[in-house]
Amino acid sequence: MRTVDDLTGPRPLPVVGNLVQMRTDRDGHRAYDRWAREYGPTYRLRFGRMPIVVTGDGPIVEAVLRDRPDGFTRTRVGPVFEDLGVDGVFTAEGAKWRRLRTMAARSLNAAYLREYFATVTRSAARLQARWSTAAAEGRPVDVLDDMRRFTLDVTTALAIGHDLNSLEATGDGLHTRLAELFPEVGRRLYAPLPLHKLVTLPRDRRRETAIREVDALVREAFAEATARMATGASPRTFLEALVGVEDLRHEELVGNVLTMLVAGQDTTSSAAAWTLHHLSRFPGAQARVRAEAVAAFGADGMPSDPAALRQLPFTDAAVQESMRLRPVAPVMGFRPTRDTVLPGTGYDLHLTEGQSILLLLSHGARAVPDPDLFDPDRWLGDTPPAPAPLHPFGAGPRYCPGRNLALLETTLVTGLLCRDFTLTPHGGTVGEKLAFTAFPTGLRLSLT
Ligand code: HEM
Repeated sequence: MRTVDDLTGPRPLPVVGNLVQMRTDRDGHRAYDRWAREYGPTYRLRFGRMPIVVTGDGPIVEAVLRDRPDGFTRTRVGPVFEDLGVDGVFTAEGAKWRRLRTMAARSLNAAYLREYFATVTRSAARLQARWSTAAAEGRPVDVLDDMRRFTLDVTTALAIGHDLNSLEATGDGLHTRLAELFPEVGRRLYAPLPLHKLVTLPRDRRRETAIREVDALVREAFAEATARMATGASPRTFLEALVGVEDLRHEELVGNVLTMLVAGQDTTSSAAAWTLHHLSRFPGAQARVRAEAVAAFGADGMPSDPAALRQLPFTDAAVQESMRLRPVAPVMGFRPTRDTVLPGTGYDLHLTEGQSILLLLSHGARAVPDPDLFDPDRWLGDTPPAPAPLHPFGAGPRYCPGRNLALLETTLVTGLLCRDFTLTPHGGTVGEKLAFTAFPTGLRLSLT
């Protein structure tokens, strides 16, 4: 049995502890993995004077993820999200979480994906048009920015039926104000001091306006959803899927809609952007995705049913492989609600109530042959790699309820864009930054 005091780790500096060594804009979450290789899968850091346990040890990661919501709660994100008005299923705990999770699972039910599909393809067609214009003008594309526009449009349309259309819009509007919500989450999570509590900046006022606008849209959309559902139609939006849930409060609806926007936008856009990045560097793999998409969708068609995506096994493997190499949510923090003993490899770990523990969700990503190589084929054999822990969508009762939607969006745009364009790197260094999620920086592609 080991306690936090028995663990080793990188030497902390006076006052700041290990904070300086883990600057997130320098090498993102990679420092955590490096230290795991140096000190073993479970080690200790200090944030200031506070000890933090970090682990990529499979059995411990599984035990924490599964013992929720009763045994472990999320750390850090709760107050930041709630302050921003994003008070929903991601941050809720206990009985409140159970109630909101039922709502989220209901609105993201895989059975509704067929109804949602037309909304996803409408935005995919706009993305194709945007890239066609860039290709015709010989302009490189800012891949992450375009993927963010795509996922923001899809999630807003699916959540409340509102067509934000940031893929085609110009000038200022809700689409620009709403897009500012996501960087703010990252800024506040990693700010050394909570400066936003002392000064209100113009960007804070713009964000508050955006939240008020979403609030008004939800009120209007829920009234329309209720009327439409009374006709016996199938739900086309998250709100329509929630009609009929008992004792639903307006604030719960708004908090959950904003949660869907935050949880569904940055994550999916980063996963899609990284996939296109890898394919641009591996022309052979890109050609295989193209061939698959032509066979499944035709030379210039758009699928009308999500079942068409089942004919893209190599594209799906490219997405999985990209998430292995560049996980979008590589690190997540938790706290035990009581003193607890976790079964580790080689020894048990004793944690006292409230002790912060960071899980390296993708530590197992390197437990494959030639781990730095982008090789989608490794997912296509009879025994695809499932090194533990490799949980791009989390695990246990709180695993990501948007997984199916996220994979549908990512596979669809990857197939369509590789079918219609030859993607080549535009030069410059592509970096990685960890904010709320890990995302690429400087990722520009040339299109032919
Ligand atoms: C590639 C894209 C995505 C990735 C990698 C991802 C990853 C994750 C991860 C790691 C978690 C935490 C799971 C856990 O605690 O065990 C999570 C939770 C969540 N995700 Fe996703 N996600 C993605 C897309 C989406 C989408 C599209 C939506 C909805 C529109 C969504 C909604 C949520 C919600 C509501 C939660 C909170 C679940 C809870 O606490 O019960 N995610 N996601």
